[in-house]
Amino acid sequence: MGLKLKDRRFSYSQPEGLNGIYLCRYAGTFFGLWTINGYFMVVDNFFLDTGNPNSSYKKFSQFISKLDHSAKWSVLNTHLHEDHCGKNHLVQKKLHAEVYARDKVEDFSFVSRLMDHVWGRPRMFTHNIFDRTVYDTDKGRRIEVIPTPGHSDDHVAFRIMPDNIIYSGDAIPLPVKKRYITTGENYIAEIESLKKLLVFAENGSRFVSAHHGIVGDPVKLISDRIDGMTSVVRRVRDVRDSGINNVDEIGNRVFGKPDIIYRKLGDSIRCRQDWTVQSILDGIK
Ligand SMILES: [Fe+2]
Repeated sequence: MGLKLKDRRFSYSQPEGLNGIYLCRYAGTFFGLWTINGYFMVVDNFFLDTGNPNSSYKKFSQFISKLDHSAKWSVLNTHLHEDHCGKNHLVQKKLHAEVYARDKVEDFSFVSRLMDHVWGRPRMFTHNIFDRTVYDTDKGRRIEVIPTPGHSDDHVAFRIMPDNIIYSGDAIPLPVKKRYITTGENYIAEIESLKKLLVFAENGSRFVSAHHGIVGDPVKLISDRIDGMTSVVRRVRDVRDSGINNVDEIGNRVFGKPDIIYRKLGDSIRCRQDWTVQSILDGIK
């Protein structure tokens, strides 16, 4: 471990079992202290997300140069956080892609200077709201748009058919008991979306998650998070019902004091424990 300002990694592969679909990998780092991996997919003539801005421009361009430039390209975004639409502008510039998402973003000024080191701040692109619920690829696949609000209001997952593979973006949190949430995140809605995805998993859909990659056991991964997050909601309710109303105090009782990074830099990294408590309190009123 050493000081590492930005992580530029970018790689791509066509893993066995994904039927020729590209899985692209990138990462973000907080000065080398921790690293989060990220994954997105390229299905025929569709990008499902485009990763973060900081990943290697050169390697990404090499990847794009391998693709069929005569195809009609589109980008479908699970949501417009900076680690998911970071190369939209490049795909638009080089492949003339149309970009679709469930919501619009005006600019990326919400990405702080600190987060510019972690994921980067995307360059702007032009985009549209989804104009259908199913997109057909040029090789005969169908990509279904599945609303999964919670991580963000506008979050969606995509099911690729007939492969029956779901790219779930950020709908499946990394921690089992999610403790810190980001701006606009809705804890209770997130649990409901996990329940929706669990039904697909139980019926045999395979999963690729933006921060887990190819999921080995989606039923377990999703159920564990439903259980963990539901237990957090229960604890918050119990503490509130015991007569404690202060959001920080409830958080301290449920989780303990926030880690120092979140205490000192929560606004800058857009991730705070008291937002979790407030979101739950708002949801269980
Ligand atoms: Fe996100």
